[in-house]
Amino acid sequence: MVRGEMDSDALKQRAAERALDYVEAGMRLGLGTGSTAAKFVDLVGARVSGGLDVLCVPTSEATHKQAAGLGIPLTTLEETPELDLTVDGADELDSDLRLIKGGGGALLREKIVAAASARLVVIADETKHVERLGAFPLPVEIVAFGWQATLNKVRAIALDHGCRGEISLRGSRASPFITDGGNYILDCAFGSIGDADALAVALSCETGVVEHGLFIGLASAALVAGPAGVDVLGEAP
Ligand code: A5P
Repeated sequence: MVRGEMDSDALKQRAAERALDYVEAGMRLGLGTGSTAAKFVDLVGARVSGGLDVLCVPTSEATHKQAAGLGIPLTTLEETPELDLTVDGADELDSDLRLIKGGGGALLREKIVAAASARLVVIADETKHVERLGAFPLPVEIVAFGWQATLNKVRAIALDHGCRGEISLRGSRASPFITDGGNYILDCAFGSIGDADALAVALSCETGVVEHGLFIGLASAALVAGPAGVDVLGEAP
């Protein structure tokens, strides 16, 4: 590391710390998934130990385990269907707060929890902030049954929207990656997505597609950490 540069772990920590400004006592919180969100969960755990009263819904089994281990009071969307705030990471974000998520495979629960939240605040290091989405392969969660047929349909939709590139089953044919919901994931290496809004709508309409990793119109703020500090895109606390 060049002297003066911060490593990505330290930047993730910075973004997670800034997200605490959005947290108030009594809130119902969604807890994201991934290495950046895990730092936020640790911070919430420390605040809870210090007496903060919050009730949280985790977005994955991994986050559930982490939060339970820290003694964070947990609930479910069945018991608590409306949340005040969710804090989560992202694989990519653009300046319109459109996101690619699902690198960790938790996109379905993440999107359900985000949609149930009054606010979604994204925390990220500056490498995640891009001009145009798509360099990170877009995850698409699909039903296992007939996955090859669904992959072909996803490829056709992508081509219709000017997106080329390899679409691969996460894991391997012999041992596919299985999501918390029991589904498979396609990773779509498009390189660049020209019209993310239209692609998102088209993917959502396809039979066999459970959910895709384009999060559009969900985030109200993004906290992007760089060596010079944290940029707040969107809503201030
Ligand atoms: C999990 O499915 C993802 O959506 C993560 O939020 C995303 O991959 C960001 O993860 P990192 O914070 O580990 O980069």
